[in-house]
Amino acid sequence: MRGSGKGRFAGEPDPSAAKFSRSVHFDQRLARHDLEGSRAHATMLVKAGVLTRKEAASICRGLDRIEKEILAGKFRWKDSLEDVHMNLESALTARVPAGAKLHTGRSRNDQVATDLRLWLKEQISGDLLALKNLQRALVHLGEKYRDVILPGYTHLQRGQPVLWAHHLLAYVEMLERDKGRLHDAAKRADVMPLGSGALAGSTLKLDREVTRRLLKFEKVSANSMDAVSDRDFLVEYLAGVALAGVHLSRLAEDLILFSSAEFGFVKFGEAFTTGSSLMPQKRNPDMAELVRGKSGRLTGHLVSLLTVLKGLPLTYNRDLQEDKECVFDAADTLRSSLEVMAKAVDSIEVDAEACAYAAAAPELLATDVADALVRAGMPFRQAHQVVGAAVRLAEERGTRIDRLGQSAWESLAKGSGKLAEEVLGGSSPVVRARKALQARSSVVGAPSLSGVQKELRLWTKKLR
Ligand code: ARG
Repeated sequence: MRGSGKGRFAGEPDPSAAKFSRSVHFDQRLARHDLEGSRAHATMLVKAGVLTRKEAASICRGLDRIEKEILAGKFRWKDSLEDVHMNLESALTARVPAGAKLHTGRSRNDQVATDLRLWLKEQISGDLLALKNLQRALVHLGEKYRDVILPGYTHLQRGQPVLWAHHLLAYVEMLERDKGRLHDAAKRADVMPLGSGALAGSTLKLDREVTRRLLKFEKVSANSMDAVSDRDFLVEYLAGVALAGVHLSRLAEDLILFSSAEFGFVKFGEAFTTGSSLMPQKRNPDMAELVRGKSGRLTGHLVSLLTVLKGLPLTYNRDLQEDKECVFDAADTLRSSLEVMAKAVDSIEVDAEACAYAAAAPELLATDVADALVRAGMPFRQAHQVVGAAVRLAEERGTRIDRLGQSAWESLAKGSGKLAEEVLGGSSPVVRARKALQARSSVVGAPSLSGVQKELRLWTKKLR
């Protein structure tokens, strides 16, 4: 079918053109929002003198009935009617004669932009909850293994000992920023295009304030041309989603690495792993791998939409119809990734002993020895050299820095060798690592036992 019936056209579009341009199979997802927009528009048209009260009421009842049918899966979508808007309008008009007046002062251009914004606001509020649930799972895992130490890495080489909970809370921080970005995107989406018409508003007296209030938008758009062609709000959403996807991918990667035999720090619950069709012994972290893999798609969707928008002349162009599939897929992919990741994290068992063993390697305290020399007055660059030389010497002698002995340290550190012993000597390696964490208690944001406990408590409270 053509726009609103034939009119300007003598015949039907070529079947290939109709098939190529139809969107109802994916934009029917906007049905609830389209109906909501139509009810508000009908109510406003009474004030504009276009509909009688009775007509508006019958239209709203008709729209309600259609909504019920859709929710019950009984509505018959027609491919021949191109998109969600034409399907719903045509179904309404078939039932309610006044339905033919509903599209007064409205275009599918301001309609689809309004629908998308309504959809996005709802979508984001669900995303925020899903992000919060993953944060909760991470904090919970941190609480459960609150005393466990593991090596912190740079360049994937062991750096310094940290607490497991500190590592997990790093992701909680990332997800909090993701929430902030999506929250901002929702704020920017909270502007109502309806009333902008095709591009230049209307000669009829549309009271946009009435529709705004009914649809619970924060404000109405100020420029009709901008309003029908703007998809910034979707780009912002996709950018936030892509970045959240990148964070999920990094979390997945850490857990995949840590669950390998080479690290042996964590074990996913069986329900979140798969076997191999060939190798009977395998237990593969497929869920985490898929989360990592799907993040590629999220980045792709952002680039897709930016590329669609680039170079479009004002105002509406049909290219804009290409916004929906990438946005819907991004939303679904993020949501399912968050849900499965939260459960997979919940299922994790940490091997505290394997972590502590790795974290107790004395080399991880090399920086702390340098800090001790600094406290005794040695310039840091010199301290760095002294400890570096000690590591080399230990390597040459086939031993470890905590077994070099006082005289070796004395000759390297010239009078300060005792200090190295204080960091490296005495107690067991695990106790030493623990002491090293405790020594960080005066630095905000560092993984001291007390600092991390405090952070865990704060997050638990915040995420309640
Ligand atoms: N299906 C269209 C879209 O998503 C709706 C708007 C169509 N407007 C038009 N003038 N052809 O963009």
